[in-house]
Amino acid sequence: MTTKVIKNGTVVTADLTYEADVLVENGVIIEIGKGLKGDEELDATGCYVMPGGIDPHVHLEMPFMGTYSSDDFESGTRAGLAGGTTMVVDFCLPNQGESLMDAIKRWDNKSTRANCDYSFHMAVTWWGEQVFNDMKTVIEQRGINTFKHFLAYKGALMVNDDELFASFNRLSELGGIAMVHAENGDVVAEMTAKLLAEGNTGPEAHAYSRPSQVEGEATNRAIMIADMAGVPLYVVHTSCEEAHEAIRRARMQGKRVWGEPLIQHLTLDESEYFNADWDHAARRVMSPPFRNKKHQDSLWAGLQSGSLSVVATDHCAFTTEQKRFGLKDFSQIPNGTGGLEDRMPMLWTQGVATGRLTPNEFVAVTSTNIAKILNCYPKKGAVLVGADADLVVWDPEKSKTISASSQQSAIDYNVFEGHEVKGLPRFTLTRGQVAVHDGEIRTQEGHGQFVAREANTTVNKALSTWKELTAPQPVQRSGIPATGV
Ligand code: URP
Ligand code: ZN
Ligand code: ZN
Ligand code: ZN
Repeated sequence: MTTKVIKNGTVVTADLTYEADVLVENGVIIEIGKGLKGDEELDATGCYVMPGGIDPHVHLEMPFMGTYSSDDFESGTRAGLAGGTTMVVDFCLPNQGESLMDAIKRWDNKSTRANCDYSFHMAVTWWGEQVFNDMKTVIEQRGINTFKHFLAYKGALMVNDDELFASFNRLSELGGIAMVHAENGDVVAEMTAKLLAEGNTGPEAHAYSRPSQVEGEATNRAIMIADMAGVPLYVVHTSCEEAHEAIRRARMQGKRVWGEPLIQHLTLDESEYFNADWDHAARRVMSPPFRNKKHQDSLWAGLQSGSLSVVATDHCAFTTEQKRFGLKDFSQIPNGTGGLEDRMPMLWTQGVATGRLTPNEFVAVTSTNIAKILNCYPKKGAVLVGADADLVVWDPEKSKTISASSQQSAIDYNVFEGHEVKGLPRFTLTRGQVAVHDGEIRTQEGHGQFVAREANTTVNKALSTWKELTAPQPVQRSGIPATGV
């Protein structure tokens, strides 16, 4: 087996920065140190050698709103690798009444084309005895320990509070982690109907129909229900101060809650929806919608202070043609935006280069934190001997202007079009295979492997211990008063 050595770089992890070479064999890191030799040399002079990015929130070839998202596991993971991301986690979505195991089979078929490693979250899209039973099988036989619940998309993916509580209780029992898309779907449906009736049919009305209050309310509700069930909670696409405030408060109270802002919400704002060009605005329709600077500042502060843990993309890319399903009615515009290729360069440029984040914090929020939460650390998210050689050799001087004309994604536009980024991969390695070589894409379709993740993480164990200790107990009394007769 030939070896590769990444030479003369500076290793940057979530907690350390030091000069060292990294030796890779058979897809794993076998040595870290000075003066290492290998069969092939990758020159990292002037570069940072970091754990490859993990994007824990993508929807590749997702069946949604009458169509399928246009990036599949091949183009999506190719886009990720081009931007330094070496693992993605997609959401497996059972149809109404479908068994969870049957849904996984469909996702298994799609994911055979992946260029980098991947895992799945399971979505709880309906509730019944079958789902209750399948959850155990999914955890024990498939290594999927994260279960997503949509509090929005009424009449489609949404679950009600009784179902949410039942599922959270089951997860607590099984040692799983609950996830939520937190927007109040009932309120969104009412507001959508009212806006349409008043003649507000354009894409800007998508934002009006989902104000920050619907997200704040649902986030707080999910946190309280998770606390009552005794399950750790991961809140996806946290976009506003109200939701962040609920997460921040919960964490300060010792609750096990994580928040995930998206690179889109950090760097793009609501003014995009007021663009006179319908296509421009519709291409940016996603849920939750982009927000104003007050919310963006809150998200950045959350990353700085640690109250928010992970930066993801929710990559769910629809072409302009697909977006035009909603020309007459904004509620028919497929919800979703892309970002897989741009997450790391945009976060570096707007986070590290501005001094809002340290390089170590960048690694934490793009890779290491989520690897720990999902329970695949240090196989992923680490530069350590024995870890998978999922690495990015990051050139802080390399720059480009983002453009759809040169992107890997299959769609015909890019929501970051025209943004200058400085900080790009020189090399991206996926289990030791060089998928990006000095800007050239050398991905191998089908190279990606499924990453199984065990339940009962250390956080689950700590939380269940605490919940047991503080559970309601009957008071032991010495005597029972006689009845008054
Ligand atoms: O608009 C979005 N976010 N589309 C993808 C599905 C979801 O809600 O995550
Ligand atoms: Zn080479
Ligand atoms: Zn969502
Ligand atoms: Zn999503």
